[in-house]
Amino acid sequence: MTTVDGSAGPDRSAGALAGRVAVVTGGASGIGRAIVLRFAAEGARVVAVDLNADNGKTLLSDADAAGLDGAVCFEQADVSSEEDVARAIGRAGSEFGRLDVMVNNAGVGGAFGPITEVETDDWDYTFAVLVRGVFLGTKYAVRAMAEHGQGGSIINTASIAGLSGGAGPAAYSAAKAAVVNLSRANSVELAPSRIRVNAICPGIILTPLLHQGREEQTRELLPEIQPWPDYGRPENIAGVALFLAGDDSTFVTGQAIAVDGGLTAIGPDLANRLRTAPGDAGLVGVNRGTTGERSQIRRRLGRDVGPT
Ligand SMILES: NC(=O)c1ccc[n+]([C@@H]2O[C@H](COP(=O)([O-])OP(=O)(O)OC[C@H]3O[C@@H](n4cnc5c(N)ncnc54)[C@H](O)[C@@H]3O)[C@@H](O)[C@H]2O)c1
Repeated sequence: MTTVDGSAGPDRSAGALAGRVAVVTGGASGIGRAIVLRFAAEGARVVAVDLNADNGKTLLSDADAAGLDGAVCFEQADVSSEEDVARAIGRAGSEFGRLDVMVNNAGVGGAFGPITEVETDDWDYTFAVLVRGVFLGTKYAVRAMAEHGQGGSIINTASIAGLSGGAGPAAYSAAKAAVVNLSRANSVELAPSRIRVNAICPGIILTPLLHQGREEQTRELLPEIQPWPDYGRPENIAGVALFLAGDDSTFVTGQAIAVDGGLTAIGPDLANRLRTAPGDAGLVGVNRGTTGERSQIRRRLGRDVGPT
């Protein structure tokens, strides 16, 4: 296998997913696209499913250019349509003979704005793509995995918005919380069949959904938002999806794994928001509260903080 510039493509037979077949929804852009290309480079054969056929074509030519020709095919489908999902997952069997890994990843921003003004149809659309899509993908993937009886891995892209109330619009946050708990519930039901189900909760990842055409400006803002100094890339999520798809995670099921550069680890961040972080004032010591014992406070080494 060679790339367009004539160099050798990846050695797919030695990859972590050699011999496996995967379906990835939302596979033509952003996180899904990165997962498709990473899985294929690791030896999987992949059906990329997406509503956007133009981006699907670009994906296929980029896969060819990367020496992954024959490892990726594209199926245009709407994940909220049962007929479409059944057809798209059927493509794994007709094209590649089986299904081992299902990534329910397609997504949109969905309904936003004050709850008093959100249109019911927009609310339903959000849940149709983000929740019904995951349900349908799981339903037909499990049927396909049952055909060979060797189990499999289902990976659902949720969001850190599904873990709190402050990371997205209400409809999106509620839908992603549903994806987290659907993953847990399905993991319990499907464990006896050796089908693992996990959710990935991305933090802020630089994709077209996030930057909406303003890639450069958005890129500059991102590193200041989370503890980790680099901005999140689709490849960061693809690496975790690869772990969940492969044999290194055979005892991992029912988990919601945040991949967010430490964003959720900050929690309420009260010391900074209330500006009471003593370290920022150049102080270090121990606060003994209202015990009546003396607190000890000293200046931090190398910091000139003036009188305390
Ligand atoms: N980018 C982030 O910061 C971020 C953070 C948390 C979670 N996520 C989630 O990650 C997933 C991927 O998002 P992304 O950032 O890569 O966005 P993206 O817009 O780059 O890719 C999403 C893809 O899903 C496809 N899609 C949307 N609706 C569809 C439908 N009904 N049927 C089939 N395909 C459909 C789109 O055409 C697109 O190709 C989504 O579920 C999103 O909610 C993204």
